[in-house]
Amino acid sequence: MELKNIILEKSEHLAIVTINRPKALNALNSETLKDLDVVLDDLEKDNNIYCVILTGSGEKAFVAGADISEMKDLSEEEGRNFGLLGNKVFRRLEKLDKPVIAAISGFALGGGCELAMACDIRIASEKAKFAQPEAGLGITPGFGGTQRLPRLVGEGKAKELIYTCATIKADEALSIGLVNKVVPLESLMDEAKAMASLIMANAPIAVKLCKDAINRGMQVDIDKAVEIEAGDFGKCFATEDQKEGMTAFMERRAKNFSNK
Ligand code: CAA
Repeated sequence: MELKNIILEKSEHLAIVTINRPKALNALNSETLKDLDVVLDDLEKDNNIYCVILTGSGEKAFVAGADISEMKDLSEEEGRNFGLLGNKVFRRLEKLDKPVIAAISGFALGGGCELAMACDIRIASEKAKFAQPEAGLGITPGFGGTQRLPRLVGEGKAKELIYTCATIKADEALSIGLVNKVVPLESLMDEAKAMASLIMANAPIAVKLCKDAINRGMQVDIDKAVEIEAGDFGKCFATEDQKEGMTAFMERRAKNFSNK
């Protein structure tokens, strides 16, 4: 696997994915999006990985957006294709069968905010800043911002942020539900790893099915959604980890999950 702008590290059951274009504040060009696609191929197949942390290299930026120098001269068709590429990769990330925690040190702008929103959980440093500045560049958000931001923070706040291009700090992002937690910059990765450890202590297949039920259930009406939940709930009973989790509880002993 040859990656140009992303670093993939694995340690036991945790994968850390770092967007690594520090000279451009980790801006997403098509090369980086294709790297992310390759990383997702790997993570999808790797049953030994239970949780993923996605971050940006350096302290200044998580990701400062899609690459403006690459977008500047695009035609309508090329613009559409660039949007489709970003959306395809982000949707794949969103549907990855492992939870993904975004660890956001600094700027999460445009495509960077959109990338964070395609993750399951967002932890921001006190220095992080968020915006959808696209309208100020003459475009709409193109990697899911018009869709995921209203789903996360509500339609009115999303419209305000997208129409005004306002930049908000981490504490406001927390107050509107855009991020889960704000921590000091120096402890960002430790906090992300601590949350990953809490997740990885649970049955991996159950966690994966929780993600599936939430993601699919949020897209349909509540009657269909509870059917999706029942299906995933049922699947758990075909796993060894369900037997182990409940037996360990009954026997008052520590559980020992096997991801089976
Ligand atoms: N695309 C390409 N290059 C970028 C970039 C981006 N989104 N963001 C930063 N860079 C580059 C700069 O061009 C600069 O490169 P050079 O050193 O070669 O000149 C380098 O990163 C450092 O940036 P600055 O000198 O601008 O750093 P700063 O501290 O003065 O400002 C900043 C930091 C406020 C984040 C500023 O860089 C900025 O506003 N960046 C653009 C943010 C933005 O508008 N993002 C949205 C892009 S559109 C989008 O994402 C569409 C979509 O939805 C798919």
